[in-house]
Amino acid sequence: MTSSHKQDVGKHGFEASDLPPFEDGALDVLKYFGFIDISLPLEIEIGSGKGTFLIQQAPQAPEINYLGIEYAKAYWRHAADRMRRHNLPNVRMLHAEAGFFLRNYVADDSVQQFHIYFPDPWPKARHNKRRLVQEGFLREVWSKLKVGGQISLATDHLDYFAWMEEHAAKVTDLFERHEFVSPESAGEGELVGTNFERKYREEGREFNGMILKRIG
Ligand SMILES: C[S@@+](CC[C@H](N)C(=O)[O-])C[C@H]1O[C@@H](n2cnc3c(N)ncnc32)[C@H](O)[C@@H]1O
Repeated sequence: MTSSHKQDVGKHGFEASDLPPFEDGALDVLKYFGFIDISLPLEIEIGSGKGTFLIQQAPQAPEINYLGIEYAKAYWRHAADRMRRHNLPNVRMLHAEAGFFLRNYVADDSVQQFHIYFPDPWPKARHNKRRLVQEGFLREVWSKLKVGGQISLATDHLDYFAWMEEHAAKVTDLFERHEFVSPESAGEGELVGTNFERKYREEGREFNGMILKRIG
């Protein structure tokens, strides 16, 4: 990805390689990322891309701290630079593989919501197993959520949505399924309003979403 100006992640961008050794146990995520008000709940977006959802959502929900995780370095840098330029106090971007970060650094029962919007569909049958949303991942995320917390999922890919439904049906002991509710920042007629959604809307694609709420 190219950019017309020099990008600077400032205090908004963090690298997995700078995280403390994970033998130390769960990280105090809110303190480590320098959120201004650490009494506010934490929501995590996995696969933030260029950061559009968080840039739009964070100012609308100042009562929430948002952490975006993105493993493509150019997108991470682009998103963190945008957050710095918008001077948003309640949003940070981490360059990491989300599963690695969750497993090793995030305390159980600590996250209010996960946002996963337009995850890579891995459409070829032999690649389906690389999909982020699947039973094992849902079980892992469950343990990181607070009771009553939720995962919000959206996709443009019908086969991936059917796959999500199939995997959600395997974890009904952990989650209740609900209809998708768009975030405050979504524009008129949008499900979420991410870059991918806007690009695919022009192609007339159908979008689907669901919410999985932690029980137990
Ligand atoms: C199809 S893009 C969607 C980006 C954005 N959510 C949107 O809707 O515009 C999926 C993004 O997720 C990132 N990603 C996929 N798996 C990831 C993982 N395990 N950890 C962190 N980022 C991931 C990819 O690098 C990519 O930027």
